[in-house]
Amino acid sequence: MELKNRGVLVTGGASGLGAACVRLLAQAGAKVVIADLNSEIGETLAAELRGEGAGVFFACANVASEESLKAAVQTTIEKCGGVHVLINCAGIAVIEKVLGKAGPHSLESFQRVINVNLIGTFNAIRLAAAAMAENKPTEEGERGVIINTASIAAFDEQIGQAAYSASKGGIVGMTLTTAALSYLINRGLGARLKSQIPFFFPM
Ligand SMILES: NC(=O)c1ccc[n+]([C@@H]2O[C@H](COP(=O)([O-])OP(=O)(O)OC[C@H]3O[C@@H](n4cnc5c(N)ncnc54)[C@H](O)[C@@H]3O)[C@@H](O)[C@H]2O)c1
Repeated sequence: MELKNRGVLVTGGASGLGAACVRLLAQAGAKVVIADLNSEIGETLAAELRGEGAGVFFACANVASEESLKAAVQTTIEKCGGVHVLINCAGIAVIEKVLGKAGPHSLESFQRVINVNLIGTFNAIRLAAAAMAENKPTEEGERGVIINTASIAAFDEQIGQAAYSASKGGIVGMTLTTAALSYLINRGLGARLKSQIPFFFPM
């Protein structure tokens, strides 16, 4: 998809992989909204790139919250003219054994990771898809692109990563599932879903 003047929503865009995407997108002339819980670094990155002439804005958002992500989608529509691309980068990890010296894995930490990584990704997909449905299709009939971030942990044995691996495995399944793709295609939405599977970089 041609990125110039397209609206892009990047969850977790304040740091790491998300921030790198934001910088590249800004260079390519896209208009970007960073949706992240961390206002301090998110606002700073957006202000830095605006200072260089880019259209980058910050929306404080929790991906696991319907209300807060709806507001981020709305900000992207208002500031960028629509949501043409969604990049899901927001993610957290805990390292905890299923049965450690201190006892069994905390249920709360397992649920927290699933809530942010898996449910947060789905929350962003569904709300962005609804916004993409309003876009004028390109000549190729495309209204939007959605990129999810999984992890090698979805497939590889890693000690203490039951919650993280489960969340990333869920993202792989959700992205690949024929149901998700055919739903979008059958609705005539013209949206592409893709997942990236990174190995390791400092989180
Ligand atoms: N670092 C690695 O080695 C590695 C490997 C494979 C996959 N990944 C995945 O890549 C993605 C980015 O990782 P990173 O290393 O850049 O992490 P990071 O910690 O640098 O960035 C993640 C961002 O997500 C934000 N965030 C966390 N919870 C949020 C929430 N509820 N709502 C909104 N924003 C939230 C954080 O504030 C942070 O800015 C994650 O999904 C991660 O699981 C990372």
